[in-house]
Amino acid sequence: MSARIGQDIKYCIELLNKADLVAIPTETVYGLAGNGLDKKAVAKIFETKNRPFFDPLILHTDSLSKIQSFVKDIPEAAKILAQKIWPGPLTLVLEKKDSIPDIVTSGLPTVGVRIPAHNTTLELLSKLEYPLAAPSANPFKYISPTSAQHVYDQLGDKLSYILDGGPCKIGVESTILGFENGRPIVYRLGGLEIEKIEELIGKVHLLTENEHNPSAPGMLKLHYAPTKKLIIDSLANLDKYVEMRVGLITFTEFIHNVKACKVLSTRKDLKEAANSLFAAMRDLDKEDIDLIVAERFPEEGLGRAINDRLYRASVK
Ligand code: TXA
Ligand code: MG
Repeated sequence: MSARIGQDIKYCIELLNKADLVAIPTETVYGLAGNGLDKKAVAKIFETKNRPFFDPLILHTDSLSKIQSFVKDIPEAAKILAQKIWPGPLTLVLEKKDSIPDIVTSGLPTVGVRIPAHNTTLELLSKLEYPLAAPSANPFKYISPTSAQHVYDQLGDKLSYILDGGPCKIGVESTILGFENGRPIVYRLGGLEIEKIEELIGKVHLLTENEHNPSAPGMLKLHYAPTKKLIIDSLANLDKYVEMRVGLITFTEFIHNVKACKVLSTRKDLKEAANSLFAAMRDLDKEDIDLIVAERFPEEGLGRAINDRLYRASVK
């Protein structure tokens, strides 16, 4: 099989209706989508990505009323976020109804749902009677794709169609928020800033690495990793690596005496930096270098999501 890349929504619907998969664009990253109510389609998603069944999927749809039909109760804070942020880079983890197959949620009583902000995909979703289960469209543990070509490069031989929606506007995965005993908890830092969430619903709790129960589904530390070794270090320490061919990722500064240097935002804009991060990792992974070194980003706004992804990419 070799995937076609195009904008044929009708063809996507045909494929999805017969439990096939299509890659879809969103504002965060491209997703590998299948009918979220069909166990066979969902099983295909896990197989195609080579993803373990204990890592739950996110359901995508185009309206809050559709979401209400497959979750039990929406806490007040979740309603506020849904109204203010959706369509947008936020996934809410809510109590699921029985209509959602257990394979989607890895047996958890909760399900992640979101309305993505991408017109092509919203049009597709509006024409479907079921939600689309869609993890990022990358092989398990590799970097998420932010363009149709990225999807093609890695899953092109396992898919028949990639719906092209251009480059992703945000470029890192959605922020994931759920509730435990009524308390809002952020499970994954992502494209929606924590500051923005806290403006709307007050203080939220960030689940730190040590609090993660390693046996809990979806809480894998290693993720988003390039094939090459990646180290986080300060630019002042570059001398340490003189013996090696280094590919460098910096926020604003171009450094000459390394093999390759990716500057994520010369104008010091964390959104722009987040948007360039995964493509920079992919490009450096293809260079003739021994090591990727990345500097730490400011721990604010999308800088937190960037640091989180760099940290995960550095864990081996
Ligand atoms: O931006 C995104 O969220 C992209 C686009 C395609 O929408 N999707 C995405 O999906 O990043 P994925 O499968 O790569 O990441 C989904 C993560 C899981 O690894 C897990 O950590 C979390 O969502 N998750 C899903 N359901 C959950 C649940 N019921 N409880 C806790 N975490 C959950
Ligand atoms: Mg993923």
